[in-house]
Amino acid sequence: MREITKMGEQAAATAIPQPVGETRPAAVRVRKPKSWLEERLGLDGLMNSYGRKAFPVHTTFFLGEMSLFSFVILVITGIYLGLLYIPSNVEIAINDQKLPQAYASVQFIESLPVANIFRNVHHWAAHLMLASVILHSLRILFFGTYRKPRELNWVIGVVLFALTLGAAFLGYSLPYDSFSVTATGVGYGIARSVPYVGGIVADLTFGGTYPTLGSLPRLYTLHIFVIPLLLAGGIAAHMAILVKQKHTQPGYSKRLAEPGKVLGVPLAPYQAILAIQLLLLMFASLFLLSAFIPVHPLAAYGPPGAGSGGDVKPDWYLLWVYGFLKMLPSFEFHVLGGTFNQEFVGGLVFPGAIFGLYTFAPWLDKTNKRVLNRYYEYLEPPRQGPVRMAVGVAVLAFIGVTFLAAYKEQLNLSVAALWLLAVIVPAVIGAGTYFWAKSGARNRPYFDPTGEAAHEVVPASEAVPGTAVQDDPEYALSD
Ligand code: HEM
Repeated sequence: MREITKMGEQAAATAIPQPVGETRPAAVRVRKPKSWLEERLGLDGLMNSYGRKAFPVHTTFFLGEMSLFSFVILVITGIYLGLLYIPSNVEIAINDQKLPQAYASVQFIESLPVANIFRNVHHWAAHLMLASVILHSLRILFFGTYRKPRELNWVIGVVLFALTLGAAFLGYSLPYDSFSVTATGVGYGIARSVPYVGGIVADLTFGGTYPTLGSLPRLYTLHIFVIPLLLAGGIAAHMAILVKQKHTQPGYSKRLAEPGKVLGVPLAPYQAILAIQLLLLMFASLFLLSAFIPVHPLAAYGPPGAGSGGDVKPDWYLLWVYGFLKMLPSFEFHVLGGTFNQEFVGGLVFPGAIFGLYTFAPWLDKTNKRVLNRYYEYLEPPRQGPVRMAVGVAVLAFIGVTFLAAYKEQLNLSVAALWLLAVIVPAVIGAGTYFWAKSGARNRPYFDPTGEAAHEVVPASEAVPGTAVQDDPEYALSD
């Protein structure tokens, strides 16, 4: 078939008389030969379908990309570290000192300048990923874009958040210094505290009664393989749904383009260039940070049993769980053969409740009513949703109090004082936020964040003075 087409093309080319000394008539167009890759993969088709895909312009939209790129940086630096790290707590003799093999291998990593900087970048990137995932989800929460039709992507997002926290927790177990062993031991204790099934779940996850010889290989496999694979699959699903449903858009788009159209910069070349710049900027900042501020140097903690594991506080992203545990009195009661204690309530029920509230936000939000054809396609000004804002800010204030609780001894705060703060601070801040949002909403015209046509839509051809949006190569307007 290809041969026939080729012959046909040659015949057509030879059929046109080409007078000697004269230029080719303007009407005859020479078909540009396809590139080697194009002939095999037909990438032009992909470019035609997605190259002009519009990416709305709003700075907060970079938070999702930052989460994605942090994951990429973690994978790259993690692969490098995996070439040198040994997941074993067997004791070996090094310079007349007996050390767990994992600890010794991290000491070796620290002794090589390049490997050391990769270790630091890996650690800083974990902080950055958690910070950007949290901020990304908060922007979706406060702008109300978790509503129909994006509920499913919201739930996948919450799972991604939980997996990211899990990966960070498991990462801490690997250096096997005194901090690692104490912190992982706390996690093991919390897993064991689950009534009825805790023993089995904890032993399966931690490779036996922690710490045993089986622990590190199991935690390592979960950290480098199982969780990253689940994250990669989850992110792929998150992105596929995003492409299918398209981005929500900032309010100004509703005035400039008809509902159903996405206004923004085209994927090729502008969004692609912006994304590459962001990735390189993140890489550069993480390297600079790592060069000047090392995180978790082994010498600060020493091998297990060296004594500094006493008052181990987790990093900021798990500090709220640790703080809440400190707000609970020690208790234990038995129901139908199961034991319920402080560790279970503080370590699992409380974070489970916060994650549950987050997961079900789209269904708890009364504005996300079941109305036919009511799709939320634009960012809603946050103050237009006073209840959402007040509840969100109050929960954040409560989490702020748990941070204080984590420093209970240093701040000399009693459990009673902490509970008083935990009631008063969120109530006052939540109420203040509610009235502030209400007053803002009253003073501004209502903005309809659904895909319903706005009365004031400016025809696309007049949207940008002097030019038609769709003819301006710097803008894209896609379906
Ligand atoms: C590994 C973690 C995550 C990655 C890599 C990621 C990535 C992204 C990216 C690149 C976007 C498009 C840009 C944007 O709208 O900001 C996006 C959109 C979205 N994400 Fe995430 N995300 C993650 C976690 C989360 C979390 C924790 C939630 C919610 C709890 C969430 C919910 C959503 C929703 C609902 C959208 C569509 C938003 C819209 O169109 O307005 N994501 N995500």
